[in-house]
Amino acid sequence: MTDPSPSGAPRDEDVVAVAIDGPAGSGKSSVSKELARRLGYGYLDTGAAYRALAWHVLEHGADTSDASAVIDAAGDFDYAISLDPDDYWVTVGGVPVTEAIRDPRVSGAVSGVARVPVVRESVNAMFRALVADSDRPGVIVEGRDITTVVFPDAPVRILLTAAPEVRAARRSAEVTGQDSAEVAAALHKRDAADSKVVDFLTAAPGVTVVDSTELNFDQTVAAVLDVIRVGTGTSA
Ligand code: DC
Repeated sequence: MTDPSPSGAPRDEDVVAVAIDGPAGSGKSSVSKELARRLGYGYLDTGAAYRALAWHVLEHGADTSDASAVIDAAGDFDYAISLDPDDYWVTVGGVPVTEAIRDPRVSGAVSGVARVPVVRESVNAMFRALVADSDRPGVIVEGRDITTVVFPDAPVRILLTAAPEVRAARRSAEVTGQDSAEVAAALHKRDAADSKVVDFLTAAPGVTVVDSTELNFDQTVAAVLDVIRVGTGTSA
């Protein structure tokens, strides 16, 4: 046990990290938010940092496929995110970008940002600090490399998957104003690019797979809650 932090906030080892990885459309975000609400935990959407940096690079008029332009833009990336599942927001330089980072323009550019190693290292350090500084007993952290790189020692590590066609159908139900075939094509293209950087389609040793292909939202939440109860040894 280490001394309490000077701020009186819980230390790293006091805040439980629940690590959830998975591809787009697996239901990760909505399930993670609901889990956080039910457990009184925080919710950390790690993809939002990559999206916000991609937005910031585009605001600079730069191209996310240019790693040095991404690194330049990262130099003045003033990022903030809420971990409250009932009050989710993201800002860059104080500007709200919560909706803007979901724009297909950003989704199409984000993989370029996510493949820059120095960017990954720096956002990973920020994710660990955000969890350590949380005033809640735990944080549901969702992304692509949370179970393997960001919190490989988390007491609960889950890979949430679903069949590709189910993921595409879910994503196209979320995105309005875009043709469903276009949405599916964009999702598969992004998965292919992202899986070259981190393997989020196979579970690392010790990671529990929850396949939501045949499950509705409530069933998926219940299945993940069961894994959390076993992993944390609680009746949460
Ligand atoms: O989960 P999302 O679709 O909002 O993620 C946006 C992008 O960020 C996605 O294309 C992959 C990348 N990402 C990542 O590389 N590592 C993470 N931990 C989270 C997201």
